[in-house]
Amino acid sequence: MAGRILIIGACGQIGTELTLKLREIHGNDQVVASDIREGAEELMQSGPFEILNATDEAHIKEIVEKYKVKEVYLMAAMLSATAEKAPMKAWDLNMDSLFHILNLAKDGKIDKIFWPSSIAVFGPSTPKDDTPQTTIMEPTTVYGISKQTGERWCEYYFRKFGVDVRSIRYPGIISYKTLPGGGTTDYAIEIFHEAIKNSQYTSFLAKDAALPMMYMDDAIKATVDIMEAPAEKIKVRSSYNLAAISFTPEILAEEIKKHIKDFEISYEPDFRQNIAESWPSSIDDSSAREDWGWTHDFDLDRMTTTMLDGVGKTLKEKA
Ligand code: SER
Repeated sequence: MAGRILIIGACGQIGTELTLKLREIHGNDQVVASDIREGAEELMQSGPFEILNATDEAHIKEIVEKYKVKEVYLMAAMLSATAEKAPMKAWDLNMDSLFHILNLAKDGKIDKIFWPSSIAVFGPSTPKDDTPQTTIMEPTTVYGISKQTGERWCEYYFRKFGVDVRSIRYPGIISYKTLPGGGTTDYAIEIFHEAIKNSQYTSFLAKDAALPMMYMDDAIKATVDIMEAPAEKIKVRSSYNLAAISFTPEILAEEIKKHIKDFEISYEPDFRQNIAESWPSSIDDSSAREDWGWTHDFDLDRMTTTMLDGVGKTLKEKA
């Protein structure tokens, strides 16, 4: 590859596993990890790392020049639940960081960008089941507003300046290596930790809150695939719908009970329930499947066994 890859927000839930995957593909020294804080040991030890605030334009430029970066994955963002508590901070982080990267590409300093969007771009007026690629989008969360706005700007920079920016609307991402940071879908990870530790979980979403979800390996595969696809295959330059599985807290609890017989769940919905209600239950991702060949590997059963195994091992290592 001509030029290195920079991951901004590399220590987060997705950033950590994405960095490790890209290092495996391209070589450790080709992939520069950066974040506002240090992260997992495996990530810190396996290749270059820089402390970087995603809103610091001058510092981003400095790192891009220092490492001759040609591709940026901008994974830093404030997620839905946290953003509701600090709306302006979330807006500034989510938007400023995107503009810094889009402008670097517009000025010819980098060649390609990955920027994640989310199911949060949809709102209460969006069709809830099998939500189409193109549909009504009236997001009601700060996070959703920032992602929807970002999508418009990505498409604008592509049309107007030819910036090669690629994007996916991630559903809730389930994994065990790095904890998620402040999302509405985080219950689907907490539940595994509590099931193994205490055989009990109190869900902050109602039992019938169906949301689109995906196991991490599928999310990483989609991210790598969309970035490797030939440019002409990427027909959507705002962001692609992406789907794998969809379930409610009740369905997930039943699945866990197949393995942990005495597991019990109770429900105390909080403000995150309102967010969940404004989002789709399931997503139509046929454009991603047709345009660049997306397929998922993990169904509910495989995701559940993989999580129980992975969380179990992680908890044992900590003990
Ligand atoms: N997992 C995210 C959240 O809940 C959705 O993009 O905020």
